[in-house]
Amino acid sequence: MGSHEEVRGKRVAIQFDGRKCIHSRHCVLDRPDVFVPNVQGEWIHPDRATPDEVAALAASCPSGAITFTRLDGGPQEAPPLVNVIRVRENGPLALHADAEIAGHGHVLRATLCRCGASRRKPFCDSGHVSAGFRSTGEPEPAESQPLASRAGLLRVTPQPDGPLLIEGNLELCAGTGKTVNRTTKTALCRCGQSANKPYCDGTHARVGFKTSSDEGAAP
Ligand code: SF4
Ligand code: FES
Repeated sequence: MGSHEEVRGKRVAIQFDGRKCIHSRHCVLDRPDVFVPNVQGEWIHPDRATPDEVAALAASCPSGAITFTRLDGGPQEAPPLVNVIRVRENGPLALHADAEIAGHGHVLRATLCRCGASRRKPFCDSGHVSAGFRSTGEPEPAESQPLASRAGLLRVTPQPDGPLLIEGNLELCAGTGKTVNRTTKTALCRCGQSANKPYCDGTHARVGFKTSSDEGAAP
């Protein structure tokens, strides 16, 4: 499988960007007929599913590695009704939002490094696995009030040598979906060493966290 490919079916085209994939395997477990694992040659078969099924499969891909273009006149992927970031156990922050990531453009789904080890910051490259990153996916919930609006543009600004600054309507959730916080402005740790994860507590400065050599060029 290549790092970036597109396979056009009769009613829908599927794009796969291997640089984004975090190997959560929803695709090959949910539809092993469409995404055929461990084969020589073509492994993506769009015509084995309906365009609606392909859209649902893409929506379950947390990293945004799978996207699609409908060729049948049906709806393309839309921003979610609720901007969400899920804190994944021992892994990245999974964003599903109408998001603008500074320097990387508009995305709807992305997995963002929170361990500090990715070589493609601000995105996850699965470096948390070899780094042995350990951090709960069930952070302590904070007191928060329902947001007046739960959607709209979410601005994600990776701070040089510091946290991810998040501005806009956001529900921060545990990996299991439990609400952790509802906020319009927060700073999330991406050095992996905050004592108050998923939030930044300033530790990045004390530990000399550096991002410049690992900031990826593309989402
Ligand atoms: S991140 Fe997406 S493309 Fe990669 S294994 Fe998971 S569902 Fe498949
Ligand atoms: S980025 Fe980790 S403590 Fe600030």
